[in-house]
Amino acid sequence: MFSYQHHYHAGNHADVLKHWLLLACVRYLQLKEKPFDYIDTHAGAGLYRLDSAMARKTAESDDGILKLDWFRLPGLEDYHRQVADDIDARCYPGSPLLVKRLLRSGDKAWLFEMHPQIIEELRQNCEQRRVCHVRREDGFKALSALLPPASHRALVLIDPSYEVKSDYQTVVKVMANAYQKMPQAMLLLWYPVVDRQRVRQLEKDFANSKIRNVHLFEMGVAQPDGAGMTASGMVVVNPPWTLADEFARTIPGVSAQLSNDHQTRWRHRVLVAQ
Ligand SMILES: C[S@@+](CC[C@H](N)C(=O)[O-])C[C@H]1O[C@@H](n2cnc3c(N)ncnc32)[C@H](O)[C@@H]1O
Repeated sequence: MFSYQHHYHAGNHADVLKHWLLLACVRYLQLKEKPFDYIDTHAGAGLYRLDSAMARKTAESDDGILKLDWFRLPGLEDYHRQVADDIDARCYPGSPLLVKRLLRSGDKAWLFEMHPQIIEELRQNCEQRRVCHVRREDGFKALSALLPPASHRALVLIDPSYEVKSDYQTVVKVMANAYQKMPQAMLLLWYPVVDRQRVRQLEKDFANSKIRNVHLFEMGVAQPDGAGMTASGMVVVNPPWTLADEFARTIPGVSAQLSNDHQTRWRHRVLVAQ
């Protein structure tokens, strides 16, 4: 249990998709002055070195964040600005740090992590009194107790490692429960495409749940029948109304640059209408 370490994967193609869309959701919420609460159920360390032994062992960032030709990717400017200084320092920020840096007065973050060493890194990188709360708790269980927050506006990222195969069922139950407690919350779930059958089932489970306004955004980087993680995606409940168009405009370029054969592969689906 808890053998997964994001240090091996930070800055890979999946992080690009996840963090770009996460950032777009933060920007959308911040169009209104009213504060919001960010909840990251599986936060990770917050900051990763791209030149560590762990990162170099897999070299996944070489096929992700370090492969992007930013100036030929209109639509990714904001994301580039958020990560450029880190990349110059041979680092990459995780979801909690990306969001923490954008918090305004009144916005709050709640970060959950279970790994005994990673939680210490997370504390060092992100903890801030009264603003950014770090907890060593099961994020799946902790989420429900935080909803709805006093701000009545919430952005939730659920980003498990799927080490436990039942996570594919757990995530839908956790999101359905979160939705029931706060139907207006923006809920983001990341998923890998290693076994397409699992993703088909995930889509069916959402379609059969009571959650409304569920969209799926996916990017492929290799032939679908290839080995390993050939694609990844985000399920977004209550996405910004601008997100689907923004995604459709930008994803062909990103996918073509990150794929191993320069092909463009992506999907946007409305799994459940509003
Ligand atoms: C994919 S990583 C998170 C990456 C991070 N969200 C980002 O985008 O930078 C998943 C993390 O969840 C942690 N984890 C696993 N099970 C957990 C649980 N039940 N509650 C909270 N954290 C958990 C793992 O230790 C790991 O650090």
